[in-house]
Amino acid sequence: MTENISNVLRDRWLTRFGLIMAMSGNAVGLGNFIRFPGQAAEHGGGAFMVPYFIALLLMGVPLMWIEWTIGRYGGAWGHGSTPGMFHRLWHHPISKYIGIFGVMLPAVIGLYYIYIESWSLGYAWQSMTGAYWGSETQAEMGEVFRNYLGHGEGPVAFGRQAYLFFVITIVVNFFVFHRGISKGIEVLAKYGMPLLLIMGLVLAIRVLTLDTVEGRGVSDGLAQIWVVDWSALGSPAIWIAASGQVFFTLSLGFGMIHAYASYLTKDDDITLNGLATVSTNSFVEVILGSTVVVPAALIFFGMAGIEVITEEGIFAISFQTLPVIFQQLPGGQFFATVWFLLLFLAGLMSSVAMFVPLLSFLQDELDMDRNKALAGIFVAVFILMQPVILFSHRGIMDELDFWVATLLIVVFACAEVIIFAWIFGIDKGWETMHRGADFRVPRIFYYIMKYVTPVYALALLLWYTMDDEAGLIPVLTMQGVPEADRPILWLARLIIFGFMAFLIWGVWHAWRTHPKFFDDGDETAGETKEAETQ
Ligand code: TRP
Repeated sequence: MTENISNVLRDRWLTRFGLIMAMSGNAVGLGNFIRFPGQAAEHGGGAFMVPYFIALLLMGVPLMWIEWTIGRYGGAWGHGSTPGMFHRLWHHPISKYIGIFGVMLPAVIGLYYIYIESWSLGYAWQSMTGAYWGSETQAEMGEVFRNYLGHGEGPVAFGRQAYLFFVITIVVNFFVFHRGISKGIEVLAKYGMPLLLIMGLVLAIRVLTLDTVEGRGVSDGLAQIWVVDWSALGSPAIWIAASGQVFFTLSLGFGMIHAYASYLTKDDDITLNGLATVSTNSFVEVILGSTVVVPAALIFFGMAGIEVITEEGIFAISFQTLPVIFQQLPGGQFFATVWFLLLFLAGLMSSVAMFVPLLSFLQDELDMDRNKALAGIFVAVFILMQPVILFSHRGIMDELDFWVATLLIVVFACAEVIIFAWIFGIDKGWETMHRGADFRVPRIFYYIMKYVTPVYALALLLWYTMDDEAGLIPVLTMQGVPEADRPILWLARLIIFGFMAFLIWGVWHAWRTHPKFFDDGDETAGETKEAETQ
């Protein structure tokens, strides 16, 4: 009974347009505008595109469909997070515990993602007011950046402005989040995504009409991304980086797409909508994201503008190089403001998704009151973000990022594709995916999902674990980390483990006390249930 009631009360996407915008808004994020150009630049530009598109086809698209299918399937029983969903796919006591990752990963990402998002808002403000105008070299802009973040010699990093914009950003996030799926996230995306596309186009056109600087023109800039140096493809690093980027940018392997898809109704299309999400995201990433950042940096600074990434890190082009360039353009303040607002908006539409699985978990599985759960999440996130902000100069973000956004997403993706294609069974999965489908997926993907995607994901996982520079062992043993920073990295791990422990307890408690989890019976019972719910 309870589940029928909870299903009736369950929020859902109201329009197809809103759904696609929300899913794309989830996928399009800082990853498209900051991480992608950074990765591409670091791995030889054009050469990066080859493994990127291969990973997109063999892993990105199939996983997107799989995650939509799992989400819609689990949602039919009122499960908005992966512990419940996996339990429905595989009646084994362990499956619900594997599902914990789909609640933990996005929430932990949220802890540093929201902070980075807030920098964009702060920089939008600074661009509008012209605060950094006059700091005309990359080195000076680097100084501006460090000052903004309060990165100095002291033990903690505290920038007053940065903190203010953090508070604004977290409040905006929770405002949208508390309004729920259809009234909050869908409304934001319906207006936000088109606006984002317009802003992206404005900037792309601006860059494509730049004059030559010291003989370097637009075509040289574009060559950075589109001319392939085939010899670079021999190194595994580029394949790993490209595959990792595909995961991150599509928000795959995080339990996030599942959560959004759980608000579909049982006959909503998956195949076309899923493909539309991947296409929108790749368009924004490959066409808009890379056209702005990499060519602009190359035209103005040559290779040095691009190599700044290797020395200063992934944020350098966005927060140091581009502001210098904008200062040299007529109307630069306008374009700079558009750029940072675009980043903020992209970040916001992703970060409002990050606590959706956790909220669903607390509500659906632990039967918590929605408002109490929301308040609890807000307080916990606010508190846990303090160390991230205060120790942002001492590697805490990188540490969190390695575990959740590099390693564990692949672990989770391996698990889900095996559960889906081999335990639930690819035949049943294929059929479930096609219910209400607007187009039939070419048969070859049946085999890709069954054989290629799992092997690809497992191979990636193996590489991550074995890599002797950035793999499991060197990170685990904190190779090359200054003694003083080690406690901070332990703190990051403690946050992850603490959260996991809470969720393990939560799953154990929910399945022990909550009668709705015991009526699952055999698979036919499941199917009737799914058919009944709508
Ligand atoms: N895909 C988003 C981006 O490109 C970020 C992202 C990664 C994300 N993992 C996520 C968003 C999980 C929501 C949930 O920036």
